[in-house]
Parts: sequence; C-alpha cells; structure tokens
Amino acid sequence: MIEELAKASVRMRDRGRVDKIIQNMQTAGPSELQVISDFDMTLTRFAHNGKRCPTTHNILHSSSLISEDCKAKMSGLLAHYYPIEIDESKSVEEKVPYMVEWWTKAHDFIVQEKIRKDQLAQAVKDSGAMLREGCKSFFDMLNQTSVPLLIFSAGVGDILEEVIRHHEVFHPNVRVFSNYMDFDENGVVHAFKGDMIHTFNKREGALLNRDQFAQLARSNVLLLGDSLGDLNMADGVQNIQNILRIGYLNDKVDERRESYVQSYDIVLEKDETLNVPNAILKYITAGK
Ligand code: C5P
Ligand code: MG
Repeated sequence: MIEELAKASVRMRDRGRVDKIIQNMQTAGPSELQVISDFDMTLTRFAHNGKRCPTTHNILHSSSLISEDCKAKMSGLLAHYYPIEIDESKSVEEKVPYMVEWWTKAHDFIVQEKIRKDQLAQAVKDSGAMLREGCKSFFDMLNQTSVPLLIFSAGVGDILEEVIRHHEVFHPNVRVFSNYMDFDENGVVHAFKGDMIHTFNKREGALLNRDQFAQLARSNVLLLGDSLGDLNMADGVQNIQNILRIGYLNDKVDERRESYVQSYDIVLEKDETLNVPNAILKYITAGK
C-alpha cells in the first residue's frame, strides 16, 4: 500500500504488523495522531557527500564562539565517548555512566566559554547543519494536518530551535523537549537547566514529564529515532492504541542491523531522506 516500504534499504521484522498499525492509524485519522521524534541524526542528516554532519553539540564545537582549546577538548570527548554510545557489545546499563560523564564534561566546557544567547543564530547559520531531504515537507505536512510534533532530543535545545527556525519549519504544532542553556542577566550562558537528558535516559525523562506528553492526548504515535535509546520516547504518553517505531540505522550498519530490526518496526539503513515517514504520513493523513 506504500511503495516506499518496498525499497531495499527498508527492513521490517513483521511486515503484516506494520501494515496493520498503519491501517489502524489511517482509520483513526490525523486527529488521533501525534509524532514524537528524536532530532540529531534522525531529523538531521548523518552524512552528506561522504562527510559527517554536525549534531547540535557539534554545531557549537565547530563555531567561532568556542576557543581552540575548547574545540580540541570537545573533539577528544567525541572520539572517546561516541564509540561507546554505539558499541553493540555493551549493555545500556554499562553505557549510562559514560554518557553521564560525556554530557557533564561537554556542558561544563560550554559553560566556560561564556557564549551569549544572541550569538547562537549566527553560529547555526554558519554551521552547515542539514535537515534530511524531505524534512521541510515532513514539518509542513504535520502543520497543515494539525498533527503535533514533539521533538525529544538529548542535544542542545537552544541550538536545535535555531536550526528549525533557520529552515523555517518551527511551526506552532512543534514542541521541543531537550537540554536548554540557562543565561544570566547579561545573556551569557552560566549553566544548563533542569535534569540532563542523554542518549539512554529518555525513558526516565518521558516518565518524569508526563504532563508534557499529556497535553498531546492522542492515541496513535509515530516515533522516529536513530538510537536504541530513542525507543522509549513515548513512554510518557497515556493510553496509546497504536505505536509505529521507525529507526534510522546510520552507522555500523552490519553490526547493529539485527538489534535494530528486533527493536524498531521499520529500520531505514543509510537513508538520508524522510521519504518513508513522509509516505506513511501522507497515507494516514490523506485518508486514501
Ligand atoms: O537529538 P539526539 O537525542 O539524537 O542528540 C544526542 C546526540 O548528540 C547523541 O547521539 C550524541 O552522539 C551526540 N552528542 C554529541 N556531542 C556531545 C554529546 C552528544 O555530538 N557532547
Ligand atoms: Mg539521535
């Protein structure tokens, strides 16, 4: 029923189940649908022309707002902790302390740089941050059909907001749940607000902030992520009838294929587009 699902880069553990969920969502219509999506490497590109694209943290690292010394330290953190984040041989429990360390150190470094809020928009413009192909249609379609989009990100919320503003897709149906900087009376960052969100505590974040999710009060959820830590992003939603989880498998594809196929309903391998989510959304919202 959806041509895009037949592509070689699309993997499904149980095609019949996927079809059934999509059919249920189409029958209920867009007024019962909400989308919960990760940001970095899900709505943004993983790579372009063979080069890695920046995460919201990396946008900051590579900007002129950060000293050379800090850049070197941030690169060191990435080289050390990213392989742990995606290591197939380690359990989530083993990874969590490393993630806490990574985020704590990175946020401390950012705070030391005395960045001003009014400098962020320019840093994002200069960064070359790229949304996936078809991302504008994705945001626009959700807005036109009044489907709420909750972006749930372990990145830096202030940067994330600038990225979607820069691409003119920060529509009124979009809400962001992320790590936000706290600025002093001079507009200089002096801390991060609230509890830290890292790759593997999104479930706790969702459960502790049920009110954020309750506002949506819709029974069908389309979930988009790229990490196995994104699978539980909808755990704060009450009374889910149908949930379809779509996972981008960007890196270490052969090693991680099996666990992604076992965990996500639809796995998109090295796919830098939103063609599959867009086709599903079109099917659900157009009522065809
Ligand atoms: O939006 P999302 O939840 O995907 O953001 C988290 C991502 O940011 C992680 O997957 C991690 O690889 C990346 N990260 C980073 N630099 C940091 C901390 C996290 O690039 N200092
Ligand atoms: Mg991500």
